[in-house]
Amino acid sequence: MNLTAKIIDGKAMALDIRQKLAEKITSCCDKPYLAVILVGDDPASLVYDRNKQKAALSMGMKCDIYHLEKHTSEDELIKLIHKLNLDDHVNGILVQMPLPNHINPLHVIETIAHEKDVDGFGPYNAGLLHENDTRAMVAATPKGILYILEKELGNLTGKHAVIIGRSNIVGRPLASLLLNHNCTVTITHSKTVNLPKITRQADILIVACGCPKMVKKEWVKKGAVVIDVGINRVDGKLCGDVDFDDVKKQASLITPVPGGIGPMTIAMLLENTYTAYLNQKNKIKK
Ligand code: GUN
Repeated sequence: MNLTAKIIDGKAMALDIRQKLAEKITSCCDKPYLAVILVGDDPASLVYDRNKQKAALSMGMKCDIYHLEKHTSEDELIKLIHKLNLDDHVNGILVQMPLPNHINPLHVIETIAHEKDVDGFGPYNAGLLHENDTRAMVAATPKGILYILEKELGNLTGKHAVIIGRSNIVGRPLASLLLNHNCTVTITHSKTVNLPKITRQADILIVACGCPKMVKKEWVKKGAVVIDVGINRVDGKLCGDVDFDDVKKQASLITPVPGGIGPMTIAMLLENTYTAYLNQKNKIKK
């Protein structure tokens, strides 16, 4: 018999988080300030950054997009980050990924002051997360996924989480985060042999590989929780890395695309910006 999964409403969850955060921001004496840097004209990145800005402004934060042309050199980009690092009005700095090929993202990310690294991608915050240190600024997408899982499942201890994708943005930080919450974690990637055999073992399957509708029903254990991080455009329509209509017959819970992880990522980024603002304010007071 086919199951029909409960569909997780990431949009409603994110709205709830944002409303609570907006109330806290109203009582701030000044506005938390997020600086977003975008290099080049990737249309998807432009949409993502405008959505982040719109969300930040709507809840009383300040947010500017520094839009640099695609031939901007690594040195010029790093110079801008140094300037923002030194600006006391700026609480959070985000450099939109991917960057053009002539720029090394690791050089750029390591330049961001760790207290303003609201993506949590820099070596300091990534290291803290790896060591299960609660002071880590945790990358927004993994943080949003954890929020959903804990809300829906409660304690995650002993669950087998299988992650498809080993990026620094999702797969790696998510593996650390779930390990810190006592999951048994398997990371798989494009070179993994017999992937469906591994994904069928998952209590929680998280897919972040950028392959439209790759995961089918046969890849999923009956009753598993399926989290789809993919955002792909096929024939002008958005879809995830999971074949939603197929997999929803096998899973117990599933996130849709759009309206699943995307809005949660923005909500968590704004939470990180607020945390960075508080940390910086408290440091000045001390
Ligand atoms: N590109 C895709 N996701 C992200 C993200 O969470 N942060 C940044 N900076 N770039 C991204």
